[in-house]
Amino acid sequence: MAESFRSARILARPVTEADAPEIAGIYEGNRELLVLLDRESDPLVLTRRFTLRENLPPKVPSTGLHNLILCDVRSEDPIGLLSLCVGYPMKNVAYIGELFLHPDHQGAGLGREICRRLEALLRLGPARYIRVGVGLKNWNALRFWIRLGYAQITGMSGDRHFTPKGHAFLELQKNL
Ligand SMILES: CC(C)(COP(=O)(O)OP(=O)(O)OC[C@H]1O[C@@H](n2cnc3c(N)ncnc32)[C@H](O)[C@@H]1OP(=O)(O)O)[C@@H](O)C(=O)NCCC(=O)NCCS
Repeated sequence: MAESFRSARILARPVTEADAPEIAGIYEGNRELLVLLDRESDPLVLTRRFTLRENLPPKVPSTGLHNLILCDVRSEDPIGLLSLCVGYPMKNVAYIGELFLHPDHQGAGLGREICRRLEALLRLGPARYIRVGVGLKNWNALRFWIRLGYAQITGMSGDRHFTPKGHAFLELQKNL
């Protein structure tokens, strides 16, 4: 997959360490949601992991990991982030590890736009399926992914006991 790509309104380019303040701002804007999604919800820890590429899954060549900052195509101002791993967990699967838009840019069709562009690019390569993991309390995102056609359930996991702070996830898949 190309290092950088663009859709009508979004430029996606590889993140650099210099982007850390903007990436932190995107996580920070989603702070309330982060607590619902995972055990690790500190925007600074997540920023470090994203900018330094510490989110590479085991046994995947580092060339498969694409940590991208999403920018307004005209102003180049950062509006979101996307982490994609091609070849995980199988060679013919691409996995969206993270997709976050800053709240100022949510609900305007940008998420759908970047996903459609990404899927079109992936169809040119070896991936035949695209997957995403969604926190069960993230009902807006569940609706978003299901409406985009991520309707096959390929994984389920979660805390065994119910507590207000418990976490559970669905892994959703779409054919490319
Ligand atoms: C989830 C996210 C990427 C979606 O991108 P977006 O640009 O906001 O979504 P879009 O405007 O493209 O919406 C596409 C569809 O998603 C659904 N959707 C998006 N936001 C929604 C909301 N706040 N409530 C309910 N449904 C919503 C709608 O079904 C919408 O289709 P419709 O307009 O035909 O009803 C974005 O809102 C976001 O970054 N959220 C916070 C982080 C997050 O949850 N990431 C996903 C982790 S798995």
